[in-house]
Amino acid sequence: MSATVTEPIPAPWYSDAAQAEREQRAIFRTTWQIGALASDLAENGAYVTVEVGGVPVVITRDNEGKLNALLNVCPHRAMILASGSGRAKLLQCPNHAWTFGLDGAFRNAPRADREPSFCSDDLDLRRAAVHEWGPFVFVNLDADAHPPLRELEVMRESVTGVGIDLDNLVLTGPVYDWDIGANWKIVCENYLECYHCAVVHPDFSKVFDVSAERYALRPDGDLLSAATPVKETSKVAAQQAVLATQAGPVEGSLWHLLFPATTINVYPGEGCFEATWYWPVDAHTTRGRTAVFLMPGTSQEYAEQVTALSLQVGNEDNELCEAMHRGMASGAIEHATLMDNSEQLLVRFQARVRELLAA
Ligand code: FES
Ligand SMILES: [Fe+2]
Repeated sequence: MSATVTEPIPAPWYSDAAQAEREQRAIFRTTWQIGALASDLAENGAYVTVEVGGVPVVITRDNEGKLNALLNVCPHRAMILASGSGRAKLLQCPNHAWTFGLDGAFRNAPRADREPSFCSDDLDLRRAAVHEWGPFVFVNLDADAHPPLRELEVMRESVTGVGIDLDNLVLTGPVYDWDIGANWKIVCENYLECYHCAVVHPDFSKVFDVSAERYALRPDGDLLSAATPVKETSKVAAQQAVLATQAGPVEGSLWHLLFPATTINVYPGEGCFEATWYWPVDAHTTRGRTAVFLMPGTSQEYAEQVTALSLQVGNEDNELCEAMHRGMASGAIEHATLMDNSEQLLVRFQARVRELLAA
């Protein structure tokens, strides 16, 4: 008898280049991704460049204070317009100096007056959709997309419900990128279950209750969530004592994935809010970008313990994901065998992958 009633996605989808391209188009170019930190776009004239679904995007706060997400490609000969981040009055192409407002409106092309056929009617930069939430600016390449307001509201309630003040977080250290030698779906699926925690993360499992009874899974639309309390402190190793004592306003832990690949973790105690958003570099490589925020006034000891535990768990997961990726790419199995309870968030994730590919 089969261990599952759900048809898991085929193993070749985890390593096939054409499949990766289909997913880029159908998933990463139609859904919401974190594009920037809101703090980097707080002032009029600020801009941040980013790639979304493999497409260059520039996010601006224009002179009227409005946020814009614009395709960062010159309509003249496709030069990338802006690079890095900073402040600007206009976007000026580094190739032939065509200029655009921070709202994307075409302004000027040198020598246009010498070109009788020149028409500027269709030269505004193409727009993407943009939405600010908490410390982030989300972008969707589909300019007509509606923000996932319900999911974001559920996430806000959940995060503030355990004691995190979303509007009063302190970014700790630089936002950093890291690569995993595994398909993005392997990385997200690993995030979505803690069935592996007791085996793979012994120290994490000393702090948090990872039992099937206490590690609660909750799928809600495009928000796939888990929550678990800390364990009795008597069982906790000394080096994690501060993290586990709950000395601080935040109780328990939260693990949210906003489909397809934005993850938000809340650690208990004095309060840590950690976001990692992932995207596929190719079928075999995933890039993660991580931003760690602490509640104001957090102790150095807490910051060190929470960072150390997060890095340790991250390294354990990376090794695991890379090995699973090799197994999946080997052709040895046709598809995974999913556990409908312990892996229910993963089942939902795979259903959404299929749904968007079919759309
Ligand atoms: S490519 Fe941008 S002005 Fe020519
Ligand atoms: Fe893990």
